[in-house]
Amino acid sequence: MRIDIITIVPEMLEGFVNTSILGRAQRKGIVEIYVHNLRDYSKDKHRRVDDYPFGGFAGMVMQCQPIDDCISKLTSERDYDEIIFTTPDGEQFCQNTANELSLDKNIIILCGHYKGIDYRIREHLITREISVGDYVLTGGEIAAAAIADAVVRLIPGVLSDEQSAFSDSFQDNLLAAPVYTRPADYKGWKVPEILLSGHDAKIKEWEITQSLERTKRLRPDLLKKD
Ligand code: ADE
Repeated sequence: MRIDIITIVPEMLEGFVNTSILGRAQRKGIVEIYVHNLRDYSKDKHRRVDDYPFGGFAGMVMQCQPIDDCISKLTSERDYDEIIFTTPDGEQFCQNTANELSLDKNIIILCGHYKGIDYRIREHLITREISVGDYVLTGGEIAAAAIADAVVRLIPGVLSDEQSAFSDSFQDNLLAAPVYTRPADYKGWKVPEILLSGHDAKIKEWEITQSLERTKRLRPDLLKKD
């Protein structure tokens, strides 16, 4: 898989995409992630990529030309499955979206900033608009990082223990069961007896019961989803 991220603050993402799971996935040759500085596509002598909005509204708006040039360069080189724009008014990002995107070959993620981007970009170039929650971030970089991370860890071979992605919270619309490690008794705080029993079937049953109980208590809305 290849992910191209377009941003005006590449330094926010460069460390992130080259560290931890994303860095390891790239070194293993499973994914390629490229961070593009939108200012490299500006035709302005001060490398500006924004301007005042028509209509006298407050704030600055990212202009069409640098975004169009950057996206056009990428799409002239290969086909993209999705051109995503991160924005608080997009569809809410969830595990299902991550699962879907993990099957794609090439995606672009455009990070928004200022008051937004010229709407014509959204109408003509963007194929999917994604929000990471009902709150406003300063820019789309943290959203792009969250999307890239959630997607890449689902690609086979990325996690060392592949099974662990299947038991994540939200796969199957259920929260994960609690986990414990040694010692079995820490300051009198005891690990549930069943986990020390070695009885695989009973442990599995316990895991499912815990998972359901936590979901009912903490996120009952998930049980209503199909
Ligand atoms: N940009 C600013 N806020 C955002 C959000 N909640 N989700 C995605 N992109 C954003």
